[in-house]
Amino acid sequence: MKGNKKKIFLLSALVILLMIGITWKNIGVNVSGDDIPKKKIALTFDDGPSKYTEKLLDGLRERNVKATFFLLGVNAESRKDVIEQMHEDGHIIGNHTYNHIQLTKVIDEKACEDVEKLNDLIFNITGEKVEYIRPPYGSWNSRLTCLEGLTVVLWNVDTLDWSIHSKNKIARHIVKNAEDGSIVLLHDIYESSVDAALMAIDELQEQGYEFVTVDELGQTSPIQ
Ligand code: NI
Repeated sequence: MKGNKKKIFLLSALVILLMIGITWKNIGVNVSGDDIPKKKIALTFDDGPSKYTEKLLDGLRERNVKATFFLLGVNAESRKDVIEQMHEDGHIIGNHTYNHIQLTKVIDEKACEDVEKLNDLIFNITGEKVEYIRPPYGSWNSRLTCLEGLTVVLWNVDTLDWSIHSKNKIARHIVKNAEDGSIVLLHDIYESSVDAALMAIDELQEQGYEFVTVDELGQTSPIQ
C-alpha cells in the first residue's frame, strides 16, 4: 500500500509540474509574441513613376508591403496604368508638384496652379482626392491656399539615393538608420533605389519591422 501511495503522489506531482509548465509556456508566448506592437516604418518614393516603378510594385506586393508615392505630373501623364496599379495595391499616392517646382521660388498663384494640376490628374486616374504632399526640396509656404487640406510629409531618413547608385549601400543605409516612426526618402526613378528598397524590406521584416503608409505612423514623424 505504501508503495502505491508513493506512486500516486509522484504521478500527481508530475501532472502538477506539467500543468505549471504548460501555463508558463502560454504566458511566455503572450508576452513575447503578437501582443508587442511592431516597429513601424514608411518607405516613400519621390519623382516617379518611372519604368522601374512596376518592378517596385511587384516586389512590394510579394512582400505584402504598402508604401507612399509622391508623383510628378510630368512623369504621371505617360504612366497612368502604373498609377492605377499603385492605387489598386493600396499604396498612398501623394503630390510632388506637376513640374518639380520649388514652391517658395515662384509666385503663389503659379505654385498652386502646379499643385492643383497634379491633384486633378491623380483624381482623374484614381477617383480619390489627394491628401498628402511632399514639396520638392522640402520647401513650402503655409500661406499657399492650395495646401489647405493637404498634409505635408517630409522625411527623417535620407538615403541620398540620387547620388549613390549602389543598391547595397542604399539598402545598408536604410537598415542602419531605421527606427520606429522612420520615413525613408527614396526615388523610384533609379533601379538601384528600387532594388535597395526591396533588400531593406527583407532585412527589416526579419527584424520585426512593419512597413506602413505615412498615415499609419505616430506623432513623432515629420508630418505637418
Ligand atoms: Ni523630388
